[in-house]
Amino acid sequence: MSESRAEFPRLRMRRLRRTPGLRDLVRETRVEPSDLILPMFITAQGSQRQPISSMPGVDRLRVDRAVEEAGAAWDDGIRAVLLFGIPASKDDQGSQADHSDGVIQGALRALRSAHPDLTLITDVCLCEYTDHGHCGIVEDGRVLNDATLERLAAQAVSHAAAGADIVAPSDMMDGRVGAIGMALDNSVFPDTAMLAYSAKYASAFYGPFREAADSAPAFGDRRSYQMDPRNSDEALEEVRLDLAEGADIVMVKPALPCLDIVRRVKDTFGCPTAAYQVSGEYAMLEAAITRGWLEADAAHLEAILAIRRAGADFVLTYAARRVARSLRRE
Ligand code: PBG
Repeated sequence: MSESRAEFPRLRMRRLRRTPGLRDLVRETRVEPSDLILPMFITAQGSQRQPISSMPGVDRLRVDRAVEEAGAAWDDGIRAVLLFGIPASKDDQGSQADHSDGVIQGALRALRSAHPDLTLITDVCLCEYTDHGHCGIVEDGRVLNDATLERLAAQAVSHAAAGADIVAPSDMMDGRVGAIGMALDNSVFPDTAMLAYSAKYASAFYGPFREAADSAPAFGDRRSYQMDPRNSDEALEEVRLDLAEGADIVMVKPALPCLDIVRRVKDTFGCPTAAYQVSGEYAMLEAAITRGWLEADAAHLEAILAIRRAGADFVLTYAARRVARSLRRE
């Protein structure tokens, strides 16, 4: 702070904390419902609404329920959703991922017609579609980089064709943003935006997601492609590469364990930056909330606020609707 400022007792920091009006006047960080993206799990089979035990309040939804849920989220002030698909069948190529009648493609068409102004983002990755649960094509127990790029590009183009506004590659293969960008350019959807999961760490906090998407790897783990949590400079290199390959927005994931990365990315590149508060972060808060150890609205809001304060322009969070509603009551 500036050296010319007075000292106590001439300066009293508490003066500006005295009333809600004063505090609002000098607040540095704002959170609006439209800063929040709601991730949704769309399933091709089974009952309309399937609770996820490790994520209280989050369900896998059939398309019709997803359309309703997206409408309710819109009414709460949410303006964008991120879609994950759980297909009816899985195989080693993830064939359902780019099927024009696949679960996500159908959901995109239904959501687009019901909610024309809702921004539709799709997760582009094979792990929800492969029987082995890895994010790419596997050969001899290894996840192949270059062979996977073609599959991801086909998936992204099919999402664009079904109405996605933004495709979000989350696989962590090298060169995938460039490959997807080139495929979109060569398609009739060159204006589809790319949100790259750029600094995506091999995190223990994705556990509940793997229950939700039924995508736990059948062997090994994801450390040969996702980032090592011990590294930070490497995250900047990942972001630089994705931007050079044409990413419109970059993402850091997970969020609360990576606030330092969010800040470095924003300060270094100044580009649109997202952060993903992942399933395990949500589960952790909810576990304490259901025991009465934390107050739900306050805890969720403070977590989002911290992620915004670290430099994220927007936050993907399973608590989007709850936080949006609590913001509106403020
Ligand atoms: C797909 C993907 C994952 C998540 C987002 N996209 C799972 C993973 O990488 O294992 C995690 C999201 C969450 O935990 O909420 N690759």
